[in-house]
Amino acid sequence: MNLCDLALGKRRRIVFFTGAGISAESGIPTYRGKGGLWHQYNYEEYACQLAFDRNPEKVWDFHEERRAFVARCTPAEGHRIIADIEKHIPGTTVITQNIDGMHQRAGSRNVIELHGSMWRVRCDCNMGVRENNDVPLRSRQCDCGAYLRPDIVWFDDPLDTEVIERAMRAVQTCDLLITIGTSAMVFPAAQIPLIAMQRKVPTIEINPEKTGLTPYYTVFLKGTAGAMLNRLWAHASWTTP
Ligand code: OAD
Repeated sequence: MNLCDLALGKRRRIVFFTGAGISAESGIPTYRGKGGLWHQYNYEEYACQLAFDRNPEKVWDFHEERRAFVARCTPAEGHRIIADIEKHIPGTTVITQNIDGMHQRAGSRNVIELHGSMWRVRCDCNMGVRENNDVPLRSRQCDCGAYLRPDIVWFDDPLDTEVIERAMRAVQTCDLLITIGTSAMVFPAAQIPLIAMQRKVPTIEINPEKTGLTPYYTVFLKGTAGAMLNRLWAHASWTTP
């Protein structure tokens, strides 16, 4: 199957499954590989509930630094092309592992955040989950006195059931899945493309490097997110639904 056969414009329910690689072009470091966040920081000290319980201020210092950094970045070409595709094909869904909010800032509306968002905080009291874009935070404490927690999925945290169900519904009904910039090493997120593959739906992987799942995709586009999405965009011949 070549790219013309996969023409985006004929599809009605595209799922984009994205990882840190798409935001690398916004200047946000990935997690693994050269310059990856987990090479500089031990996740056991910064990205798990135990670390937070041990030293919430240290975890918040790290997290706030990342919020401030991401706030200074802007969406990249890849984020923008996906948002444009959603305008042409309203059945488009983004399932992202990223917590940076870049897809929404680029204009995507139908975004499922598997690993939560750095722009939300939560507390176990009845405050629940709240959007919070303050940089810096006005307070790290909830009105109830407890520490607010970033509403992100840390190592060993379960995924939110409702979120995973939404993602499953999208991938079980999509007619094309395009994976961009993920090492496919974190489960259960990495299972998302497998579901489309089992359904024999065409699947495309965009990545400068091969991953463990590369052999199973219909098409592997070796390259960076913006450049490869541009290539797909150029092959899109739009048809009216
Ligand atoms: P990784 O850092 O594991 O992988 C990033 C992927 O992006 C690699 O496969 C790179 O080859 C690829 N990449 C790099 N630059 C790219 C570019 N310009 N265009 C396209 N691809 C590029 O990031 P994720 O797979 O997203 O979890 O990591 C998954 C999860 O692990 C994250 O959501 C995070 C982390 O621990 C949580 O924070 C819960």
